[in-house]
Amino acid sequence: EVSSTNDVARERLVAGLVAADTPLLIRAETQSAGRGRRGRTWLDAPGTGLLMSLALRAGAGSPLPADADRWWRVAAEFSLAVADAIEDAAGMQIGTVGLKWPNDLVVRNIEGGVTRSFRKVGGVLAEAGDAGSESAWLVVGLGLNVRGDVSKLDPALAATATSLEIATGRPIDREALFTDAVARLEGRLGALASGRFDVADWRSRQLLEGCSVDLEVAAGEIVTGTVVGHDGASGALILSVDGTERAILAGEVTKVVRIAIP
Ligand code: BTN
Repeated sequence: EVSSTNDVARERLVAGLVAADTPLLIRAETQSAGRGRRGRTWLDAPGTGLLMSLALRAGAGSPLPADADRWWRVAAEFSLAVADAIEDAAGMQIGTVGLKWPNDLVVRNIEGGVTRSFRKVGGVLAEAGDAGSESAWLVVGLGLNVRGDVSKLDPALAATATSLEIATGRPIDREALFTDAVARLEGRLGALASGRFDVADWRSRQLLEGCSVDLEVAAGEIVTGTVVGHDGASGALILSVDGTERAILAGEVTKVVRIAIP
């Protein structure tokens, strides 16, 4: 047990224990102070999920792009690696796991080729430090609910979250899923270190494309619009608001008002 794998990862970085060309992955069975985005807590029941954080340092050979405006791609690759691994482990149709911008992992309920609803199974929390300096670093933490009844964890999440086993109705081998996700992550980080990022792959998993959403851009400030794109350069969500396009770099989709029917 650790307080938060993101904290352990940061401590290792600050202590100079992570080389630029060798990112470090920290994994825990349970956390006493797991954190989510926007000040939320991330609760877990020991042994039911995957809790892990990737520690990266900038420099020669690092998967971190030289331009910090591209660092969002590391979190995207982490989610994509896990999405691929989940579909494989659960024998799901490709595309069943979606990304809800920026990096929530969701399982879609698809009927007749159409997404009828979705539930969150995982999320990503990225934290950066020493920006602009030679020792700049990034921690990307990912939490995934694999087993069990999520309503026992956080009542506030019961309506929107689930675990993989509940969503798929089949047992999932956590260790096999972890091993596969790490192998896929290594491949994706290698590509990033060579300056490659597959924008089409990232776009193809985006759940919100075409949806009407409520988006909290600042505390209490909600913007309602239609998602018209995901920008592969900045990572922004492109929202059409009253006919005007807005590129949103950070925020929280608080409500999907209408799911897009392709
Ligand atoms: C979110 O959806 O709000 C992001 C959740 C991120 C949770 C993970 S669990 C491993 C790592 N350590 C933490 O304290 N948080 C992240």
